[in-house]
Amino acid sequence: MGMWQPCYRQALNLTKTGILRRTARARLLPLISVQIEHENEPHRRLHCLHTMGSINCKEYKTTGNVTPQKEQSTGGAVGSYQSKCNSSSASSSGNKDSMPVEQEAVEYTDPVAVCNVSDLKENEMKQVDFDEDTRVLLVKQKGRLQAVGAKCTHFGAPLHTGALSQGRVRCPWHGACFSLETGDIEDFPGLDSLPCYNVEVSSEGQVLLRAKRSDLATSKRVKNMVARKPEDQRCFIVVGGGPSGAVCAETLRQEGYTGRLILVSRENYLPYDRIKISKSMNLDIEQLRFRDEAFYQQHDIEVWLGVGASQLDTAQKELHCSNGYVVKYDKIYIATGCSSFRPPIPGVSLNNVKTIRELDDTKSIVAAVGEASRVVCLGASFIALEAAAALVSKVASVTVVGRDTVPLKAAFGEQIGRRVAKLFEDNKVHMRMESGISEVIGDDSGNVAEVQLADGTRLPCDLLILGTGSTLNTQFLAKSGVRINRNGSVDVTDFLESNVPDVYVGGDIANAHIHGLAHERVNIGHYQLAQYHGRIAAINMCGSVKKLEAVPFFFTMIFGKGIRYAGHGSYKDVIIDGSLEDFKFVAYFVNEADTVTAVASVGRDPIVAQFAELISQGKCLGRGHIENVEDRQAWTTKLLEPLPLVR
Ligand SMILES: Cc1cc2nc3c(=O)[nH]c(=O)nc-3n(C[C@H](O)[C@H](O)[C@H](O)COP(=O)(O)OP(=O)(O)OC[C@H]3O[C@@H](n4cnc5c(N)ncnc54)[C@H](O)[C@@H]3O)c2cc1C
Ligand code: FES
Repeated sequence: MGMWQPCYRQALNLTKTGILRRTARARLLPLISVQIEHENEPHRRLHCLHTMGSINCKEYKTTGNVTPQKEQSTGGAVGSYQSKCNSSSASSSGNKDSMPVEQEAVEYTDPVAVCNVSDLKENEMKQVDFDEDTRVLLVKQKGRLQAVGAKCTHFGAPLHTGALSQGRVRCPWHGACFSLETGDIEDFPGLDSLPCYNVEVSSEGQVLLRAKRSDLATSKRVKNMVARKPEDQRCFIVVGGGPSGAVCAETLRQEGYTGRLILVSRENYLPYDRIKISKSMNLDIEQLRFRDEAFYQQHDIEVWLGVGASQLDTAQKELHCSNGYVVKYDKIYIATGCSSFRPPIPGVSLNNVKTIRELDDTKSIVAAVGEASRVVCLGASFIALEAAAALVSKVASVTVVGRDTVPLKAAFGEQIGRRVAKLFEDNKVHMRMESGISEVIGDDSGNVAEVQLADGTRLPCDLLILGTGSTLNTQFLAKSGVRINRNGSVDVTDFLESNVPDVYVGGDIANAHIHGLAHERVNIGHYQLAQYHGRIAAINMCGSVKKLEAVPFFFTMIFGKGIRYAGHGSYKDVIIDGSLEDFKFVAYFVNEADTVTAVASVGRDPIVAQFAELISQGKCLGRGHIENVEDRQAWTTKLLEPLPLVR
């Protein structure tokens, strides 16, 4: 028996009188028809309570079939929520099985009345209480009610404050997307899907929800994963245990792949949340990893840790590994990410000159510093700034040395950069901008003792952190036939396949299309995009056809200020709406053609999520849409307008 059971029983039958009354009442309801209009599917208009026709939950079975099907957006639906299902909740996949009625009675709670149907307007999201511990997001669209878990599965943001578009909600904080139909995660960050609830409406207009009992224990749901079948002789390999490889590996099982599955990773840790290591340097692997060992064992994913891919032979379809193994593959996904770049500065190889890319890097930084340490961070982009912010309260001094006039200038422009510089200075970080390090000077033990700046000034230094960019880990592909660009990236199709069939590439090393840049591919290093690539590649490797519809979304947290950024592209102007001083603003980046290429914000959620959603719909934002200073956000109504015919 899981932990949830006593709590659930208590909430429904013993303690919370309101719910008890509502539940008891719901049980006595007569057999009535649901009055909700469903424009596109008239056959779904009438649902009888005795059959408990599911309005929004589907059941699918995965097939393991690798024959490419016609292009379809699975939307994460394959292998999705195993709710009770009957003919009235038809799926688009054709792979559905109905659960036996007896099982439904076991699986589902009694109906709980949560509000009145008239409490929701069209296109309104509402958070309702299912029981003392469970909040549900209720949404009305096209007259139809849908209900999923209320909290984002990434860091728990309240989804009713997010961006609503047709059939899905995007998290207000970092842009993860969830289907309202199934609760399935469709864009990232995060890993898990939302629980999904059955919705009914009583003759008195009460909205009644039923939860799958197993979902009550948690606000997250791992999508169904198939078991490995010994008779399936295929072997799929995922190279790289970063966020992209990790999502790919589990999505393969969720999409029905039943063959052998190997995840090869050079690091000695199970896949973990890399972006936390520069923001909070004392987290250990148990706090960082996505899944524990049991998860990979349970789903028959062989994880080879501490093993590097050393050569790819695409003619023989073999991967050569650093442990001497040569493995034959049927399909392979390569997401080997980046390594930190060490600029050729004299003295850069001294002890205590560190970079940050992997957990072991931050472990060695933490081991190298104490209260008396004087730390210098070279570079004024995200990683160096995050490291400076994480260390300043733990050491004697932190100095950031940057080339530009202000930090983050390339990403955000001069105005925002100036405000960020002040934020750092207010928090006792010394900023040495328009500078650089010409030499790293060591002591007799080979440790760094000083750094010499471009103007000849010397700063005492016990630890130098290099935030000076990265190189892409694609050298091992050199003779594989996979075409590598000058910057080390690999061009991929809209289905994440490289120029060599059955070799898929994603994450930081991919040069891929994004929404809004129809003819160009770009190489972008964002966590969300890496996870999204992993999912899309897996779906295509499994034989479904799912096109990339990527909108880059970046987020970070510095001195308690959550910075969000969505979009991509050069800009001519930055239009600021709000107060930079108070760190409550939206910045619109507008290019030569008066198109808004990106939006950034601090303290103004969910505006960046709304912009990301707009772009993902194939719509566009122009300067004219944001010029009305009285109501710059009027454009957000475009989210619920019909989709463009050509996307
Ligand atoms: C410190 C830090 C902070 C960041 N913060 C943010 C942030 O706040 N927001 C954001 O959006 N992005 C952030 N990023 C960027 C984000 O982490 C990356 O975009 C993302 O990790 C890319 O994922 P990936 O799976 O493509 O590659 P990676 O995460 O780099 O993973 C690649 C994996 O492959 C392994 N590998 C490499 N070569 C081989 C080989 N030959 N054989 C086997 N394994 C190999 C590597 O060791 C690694 O484990 C940050 C990055 C770093 C380093
Ligand atoms: S909390 Fe929702 S995406 Fe991070």
